[in-house]
Amino acid sequence: MLEINKIYNQNCLEGIKKIEDETIDLIVTDPPYCIGTTSNGKQGTWNDNNLVEPFFEILFSELKRVLKDGAAMYINTDWRTYPFLYPILKKYFEIPNLIVWDYEWIKCGGQYRFSHEFIIYAIKGKRKRTFSASERDVWRIKPINYTLPTKLHNAQKPVALVEKMLLNSSVEGDVVLDTFIGSGTTAEACIRNNRNYIGFEIDEHYYKIAQDRINNL
Ligand SMILES: C[S@@+](CC[C@H](N)C(=O)[O-])C[C@H]1O[C@@H](n2cnc3c(N)ncnc32)[C@H](O)[C@@H]1O
Repeated sequence: MLEINKIYNQNCLEGIKKIEDETIDLIVTDPPYCIGTTSNGKQGTWNDNNLVEPFFEILFSELKRVLKDGAAMYINTDWRTYPFLYPILKKYFEIPNLIVWDYEWIKCGGQYRFSHEFIIYAIKGKRKRTFSASERDVWRIKPINYTLPTKLHNAQKPVALVEKMLLNSSVEGDVVLDTFIGSGTTAEACIRNNRNYIGFEIDEHYYKIAQDRINNL
């Protein structure tokens, strides 16, 4: 088993092989949205996604292997990537719902200003609800202001967003896995809420940012 409460500067497909079967209590993860494939500065076509499909096939099958039976997974995504991820994910997990993250704020966007993203809520096998029956599938949480110099990552998520996932679907002492930890938001949320974490980040620059963030807590 990999040491817990550590992040690893590694491709998650390599790192996850060292995690034993059914040892993870919750997965919280935020993969690249794979919408920027470009050719000559133009948006790539939908078919370009065939290049990343094998990656997600392996990843989701490995995530299923390491997750405990009945445990939950939250995957950040958006309206462009969701239709691509859904059929691959469905082979391995139950998908009881799709959460809309309402920014409570607006970003850029010429045809209706962007103000939401998606979070796929998936389960390995069956699970009884572990959160209040009044919980809605629309979460109003302010995003990071990407124009501020204090931002750590272009795709940085607010700690409050990850905290909600932790509080709804894990208990103190649980082990939480984030395969794309970026600036370390999941680690910060885990430390603040007495959860253990394992994180992977392939980019050395972001790995160092995440490591500094953890050290400073
Ligand atoms: C959407 S960002 C995550 C941002 C993070 N939630 C935060 O709050 O900072 C996705 C991250 O995954 C990393 N990444 C991409 N491919 C990876 C891989 N195969 N293994 C591990 N990390 C990877 C990228 O470098 C990027 O930092």
